[in-house]
Amino acid sequence: MKLPYIKPYKTKMVENITTSTKTDREKWIKEAYYNMFNLRSDQVIIDLLTDSGTGAMSDNQWAEMMKGDESYAGSTSFLKLRQTIRDLLGFHSFLPTHQGRAAENILFSALLKEGDIVPGNSHFDTTKGHIEMRKANAVDCTIDEAFDTESTHPFKGNLDLNKLENVYKKYPKEKIPITIITITCNSSGGQPVSMQNIKDVSKLSKKYGITLFYDAARFAENAYFIKEREDNYKDKTIKEIVKEMFTYVDGCTMSSKKDAIVNMGGFVAFRDRPLYEKVANFDIIYEGFVTYGGMAGRDMAALAQGLDEATEYGYLQSRVKQIEYLGETSQSYGIPIQTPIGGHAIFVDAKRFYPHIPQSEFPAQLLAVELYKEAGVRGVEIGTLLADRNPITRENRYPKLELMRLAVPRRVYNNNQMKYVAVALKNVFDRRNEMKKGLKIIWEADIMRHFTVKLDKIN
Ligand code: F0G
Repeated sequence: MKLPYIKPYKTKMVENITTSTKTDREKWIKEAYYNMFNLRSDQVIIDLLTDSGTGAMSDNQWAEMMKGDESYAGSTSFLKLRQTIRDLLGFHSFLPTHQGRAAENILFSALLKEGDIVPGNSHFDTTKGHIEMRKANAVDCTIDEAFDTESTHPFKGNLDLNKLENVYKKYPKEKIPITIITITCNSSGGQPVSMQNIKDVSKLSKKYGITLFYDAARFAENAYFIKEREDNYKDKTIKEIVKEMFTYVDGCTMSSKKDAIVNMGGFVAFRDRPLYEKVANFDIIYEGFVTYGGMAGRDMAALAQGLDEATEYGYLQSRVKQIEYLGETSQSYGIPIQTPIGGHAIFVDAKRFYPHIPQSEFPAQLLAVELYKEAGVRGVEIGTLLADRNPITRENRYPKLELMRLAVPRRVYNNNQMKYVAVALKNVFDRRNEMKKGLKIIWEADIMRHFTVKLDKIN
């Protein structure tokens, strides 16, 4: 018999979970104004709010923490991280930042001005926030298949080359300071971008003289999908695939809280030294000196180690297979999810889950609330609340996809807990027709409303 894949690590220390009753949770979620971000972590049993900064570091990462060098300038931990980035990604220069959005902030501070255009594949919300804050425009060029949760296209993170070329033709080069490919594409469901698409986008961008960057938060998971799904890559190692992927772009922003398996950190990496110099000034103003940029020396040391571990096949296989297990178990109960199953999360299609609840009543948020009440599982809405209002007209934006994301932290939960989540989803699905109405907003902030919004049930 063929041996199954094996999780290539074991548990040395455990963190206890506080359990609760359905009655407790009904009270708590009401007190939290039906907003998942207002819940205390000890009111949650399985926390799938995000895979960001919630991973478990390895013994070797903790050992690196002890070796961290806290010198203000020229820390050896910085030098170690720089060497890892050079070896792994092939970028000679980089600037540390405290997290991914800080990397976006310093890069866009140097590059963007009012009226600029930033094409990409469903930019993440902080990326879009940083673009729109500067009165520039994020143009989504994702392939149409990404918006059909039943399509099984293997690379739903891909950019549509016609859409992209139309943008390149429509605006003068000076108006498009950068194009961003998000790998994997979080907003379309943790979906990968193929090496072929990366090559094509790179060629097109070179033809029009446009700078091309990755949002590399989940670059290792993207490389795993390339190995599994793209024929020419099945015999290559993840590190070889990663190295090739980064040859096609001019740089990247990184939230190290995802694929680098650390609790805090980020960076911007560059091929081009003049661009590095321009962005470095903003790192110094906003983050700190260029050899620490908002990170402790020990955190840079753990990050270097994390980048190496996260690009090993065994780890990535067990990671992605766990998401697949959660997704396939849920599908076996009839739960409609984005397919193929993504790299860091499953995305439940709320339009198909609650077809009788209109987007104006936030069906994906309702689903998150019901799942929490059922079993103490915390997911997050990636739908109308997150899409926010049009900054000019102040009208609600209704996205094509109305999803509830269950993001799985790295190396934290086991498949028994994934089964618990899938069964909880089933119970909520079985009583879906009892839900007659969704939710309404009673208070919201001017920007990024989903974090602080107050909601109530519609009677
Ligand atoms: N880019 C992507 C693709 C992301 O998913 C995130 C964060 C960021 C940038 C920003 O990085 O949080 O370190 O400032 N995503 C988290 C999530 C918050 O839950 O998906 P950050």
